[in-house]
Amino acid sequence: MSNVKFHSGESIPLEMHKVRIVQKLNLPPIERRLEAITEAGSNTFLLKNSDVFMDMLTDSGVNAMSDKQQAAMMQADDSYAGSETFFRLESKIKEIFGKEFFLPAHQGRACENILAQAFVKPGTIVPMNYHFTTTKAHIVLNGGSVEEIFIDEALNLNSEHPFKGNMDINKLVDTINTHGAEKIAFVRLESGTNLIGGQPHSLENMKEVRKVCDKFDLKLILDASLLADNLHFIKVREEACKDMSIREITRAISDQADVIYFSARKLGCARGGGICTSDEEIYMKLREFIPLLEGFLTYGGMSVREMEAITVGLDETMEEDMINQGPQFIEFMVEELQKKGIPVVTPAGGLGCHINAMEFVDHLPQSQYPAGALAAALYIASGIRGMERGTMSEQRNENGNEEMAHMELLRLALPRRVFTLSQAKYVIDRVSWLYENRKLIGGLNFVDEPKILRFFFGKLEPVSDWQTKLAAKFKEDFGDSL
Ligand code: F0G
Repeated sequence: MSNVKFHSGESIPLEMHKVRIVQKLNLPPIERRLEAITEAGSNTFLLKNSDVFMDMLTDSGVNAMSDKQQAAMMQADDSYAGSETFFRLESKIKEIFGKEFFLPAHQGRACENILAQAFVKPGTIVPMNYHFTTTKAHIVLNGGSVEEIFIDEALNLNSEHPFKGNMDINKLVDTINTHGAEKIAFVRLESGTNLIGGQPHSLENMKEVRKVCDKFDLKLILDASLLADNLHFIKVREEACKDMSIREITRAISDQADVIYFSARKLGCARGGGICTSDEEIYMKLREFIPLLEGFLTYGGMSVREMEAITVGLDETMEEDMINQGPQFIEFMVEELQKKGIPVVTPAGGLGCHINAMEFVDHLPQSQYPAGALAAALYIASGIRGMERGTMSEQRNENGNEEMAHMELLRLALPRRVFTLSQAKYVIDRVSWLYENRKLIGGLNFVDEPKILRFFFGKLEPVSDWQTKLAAKFKEDFGDSL
């Protein structure tokens, strides 16, 4: 994406790449969409991709690869041990993050599993700016608990705060003092804070967090899965960093962390993950888990082809006009939806465009999963698959009671370099039709509810025949048009 100014004065995100491989899409008719969402138990995770027109479920593992990534995949060195591919990736990690040691893992949650098994003991606490679903699940599985130390502004959905992902430093110190430093397993900072709408933290804030960790002798672990977006926001929103290159900002961030882990399904635009550190003791402690849980130390469960793609993808992530594509598209969508009075999370973050379901369907109680209901409704209205990020994505507490989420969001993810501007306009058009007809949207109830990470494969049903009525209204307004 470029900073090209348009003569018309319009603000239009302009792609700095061209599409050279295409995948045909299918937009099923409204009748099939209604059937498909019923078959999927109103859970967009359970839709078949062949029934989906625009897959905006996630940016995970579905970013477009570059020609250079694909070319690199051809020279992958297939060997169980000592693969050349591994050494290329390891040296890229060292070049970019300045960390001595790299441990490969098959994806982000595998890194979380290893870190939780190594450091989380029963009764320990992990303070973090905000939890992520899989992160929290692994910490809890190992007997620990999560304490969220976000700034007050983090939960303000309509804010102008440039860094809603920042940690509240005073609260962090209070938390450590309350529990005692020996109870803190580690401090975790998540770049591009996923569940509050892809909101970044600043470099300055991370330096403050580091100081606190030094004071109490605690490890600081960075979840860099969404680092690419966060780098862009530091560059354009943090005055002190505006003249730094993306590489310099990356190194400055990395220097604050004892350990960095990431999902390469996001960072690096391929599929895989890994952990890096310069601390030999930490490295030795984590290393033993790799052959046990992932695979040999030089592949860690990843295909060598994907590892080659990550090496090139990480290099491309250091280019400003690569990492600003997602955020600029998201900003465009957020601004257009705002013009139509549709409640969206501001400022626009990374990862995707986030719609505030609590306001969009303000007639629904939170116990009927407004964001889940909105995700199902948007699929019916458009064939677009978004993701619920609200109470459905939470777990019940130990007494079996619902833990209401802080916010109910419908996330429309923008996989990097995948969709065109006319597709983004289609999303805006269908979301605004749905907004005009929002009173037709009803709630959902679980009929099949798994205990852990229930949002992945839980099944729900509409509380009434609202989905049929919504489809009928669509047919009335659009006739035979898809
Ligand atoms: N950390 C963050 C911040 C993430 O966003 C994710 C994944 C993970 C860790 C786990 O990585 O999927 O490779 O195991 N987020 C995906 C999403 C699933 O759709 O937001 P993974």
